[in-house]
Amino acid sequence: MIQIEKLRKVYRDRGRAVTAVDDVDLTVADGEVFGVLGRSGAGKSTLLRCVNLLERPDSGRVTVAGQDLLALSGGELRRARQRIGMIHQHFGLLSSRTVAGNVAFPLEVMGVPRAERGERVAELLDLVGLADHAGAHPAQISGGQKQRVGIARALAGRPKVLLSDEATSALDPETTASILALLRDLNRRLGLTVLLITHEMEVVKRICDSVAIMRDGRITEAGPVRDLLTAPGSELARDLFPLPAHAPRPGSTVVDVTFEGDSADRPFVSALAREFGIDVNILGGAVEEVGGARVGRLRVELPGGPEENAARLAHLRAQGLTVEVAP
Ligand SMILES: Nc1ncnc2c1ncn2[C@@H]1O[C@H](COP(=O)(O)OP(=O)(O)O)[C@@H](O)[C@H]1O
Ligand SMILES: [Mg+2]
Repeated sequence: MIQIEKLRKVYRDRGRAVTAVDDVDLTVADGEVFGVLGRSGAGKSTLLRCVNLLERPDSGRVTVAGQDLLALSGGELRRARQRIGMIHQHFGLLSSRTVAGNVAFPLEVMGVPRAERGERVAELLDLVGLADHAGAHPAQISGGQKQRVGIARALAGRPKVLLSDEATSALDPETTASILALLRDLNRRLGLTVLLITHEMEVVKRICDSVAIMRDGRITEAGPVRDLLTAPGSELARDLFPLPAHAPRPGSTVVDVTFEGDSADRPFVSALAREFGIDVNILGGAVEEVGGARVGRLRVELPGGPEENAARLAHLRAQGLTVEVAP
């Protein structure tokens, strides 16, 4: 488990202070893929770098696998860091070394004996699907393959936790999908806890169990993805399902309906129209696949004001749908 408490990091630059991480609390459960989603400059990289103390926070506490990292001595911290792998947007490979040589590098630093090293490198390359490219140099492989080398290298110390800083941001959509699938697979097979930061909704949709939204150094919303998508007022739901603007007409009520799981398979619009004998006007909406399940959001216009619609909204809610009257 990763626990971040009251974390704060301020950069001071020629008399100017930038609070990059502002009083952040975050809990990542063992074995989950947790995403921090936010725009550039939100403080995501700083937050991530505080989790392995590449960046020293000004205050707060970081606990990884039960260890309070800020309380560790130099040697203890080095050992704790070996159990925290990290991958980056620009891979950071050594161009003069082969693929195998890049993966061997952290093992050399850890003092793993040469004989053992060869075996471990082969095992790691196999794990990321690069067994056939051991002798290639970084310049000879694709971006996706470079990131696979980065992942193999990050797993060298048999970490329990993997940190990912925009690992797919430099990749095309298809390669992104294959790298995300690999991360999900490693998460399941190795029981790896993954904390990733991204500005891409696609990453959240594909592999995150939980997500936190970060803005101006603060977490504005956090929780399991499926819960957030059906929570009234959720920023994640708004971002994932942008709905067209509407000009409310007098005598009608505009309602946003979010559906997921079983409720996604029921024709609730036609059922509502039939049940109450009304016309339902669909203004917009979308259905997305999130974590392998269908989730959707629809904006509809119902005749009549709020009082007239109370029973109709209750009828929708009784079916497990999330219903919000549009502002
Ligand atoms: N080493 C640094 N020195 C001064 N300011 C920094 C440094 N690193 C980041 N910042 C500032 O901190 C804020 C958060 O940056 P960062 O953590 O990189 O955000 P993100 O990864 O979400 O784009 C930004 O305003 C950035 O300019
Ligand atoms: Mg960043």
